[in-house]
Amino acid sequence: MAGRFVGQAAIVTAGGSGIGAATARRLADEGAGVVVADLSGTRAEVVTASITASGGRAAAIKMDASDPQAVQRTLRVALDAFGRVDIMVNNAGLAEPALLDQISLESWNRVIAVTLTSVFLGMKFCLPLMRASVQRPRSLKPNSSNSSFPRSSCSPAGSGFTSRNRPASQTIDGPAP
Ligand SMILES: NC(=O)c1ccc[n+]([C@@H]2O[C@H](COP(=O)([O-])OP(=O)(O)OC[C@H]3O[C@@H](n4cnc5c(N)ncnc54)[C@H](O)[C@@H]3O)[C@@H](O)[C@H]2O)c1
Repeated sequence: MAGRFVGQAAIVTAGGSGIGAATARRLADEGAGVVVADLSGTRAEVVTASITASGGRAAAIKMDASDPQAVQRTLRVALDAFGRVDIMVNNAGLAEPALLDQISLESWNRVIAVTLTSVFLGMKFCLPLMRASVQRPRSLKPNSSNSSFPRSSCSPAGSGFTSRNRPASQTIDGPAP
């Protein structure tokens, strides 16, 4: 198989639908082995089946990208299936738009966990494996200005949010996906 990622392995969180599924399929088309990780095991299986039916390499796992143990289990699936991790697509995110004074703390914490903490966890646990696999690690957050190579230090809150200059009566998006 030809492609830019032949011999490499990728993990795509929230890979069972939408942008994540399209990303997983494209990476597989380009030769990568792909772990399709999604809160919905069924969706992950469907995308994995479509990749393998097209001649690609893929494995599915049901996981919550905000759960550190689930992220570590996902890494083990990648290592078992492909022996390495080169690309981490931290695609999982959540939006629960509401008026600012009506957002519950539970909703806020959930959105932060799935949208922001998941990226931290993905990068934190992947980085040692990436260093072992490739010279140029890639950690991606689609639809975000945050996509970058891992740095030696980072600020937990840095660039984690967008703000929109709208009147307080309008809805806000909360954490930037
Ligand atoms: N679609 C857009 O126009 C758009 C625009 C900007 C940003 N985004 C962001 O891109 C990401 C994907 O968007 P989409 O439209 O492709 O989503 P989607 O609704 O098509 O799919 C979301 C997937 O995420 C999975 N998921 C939800 N919570 C999860 C979790 N905790 N762990 C793992 N998987 C989880 C769901 O099961 C589902 O399969 C989201 O972060 C979204 O906020 C989307």
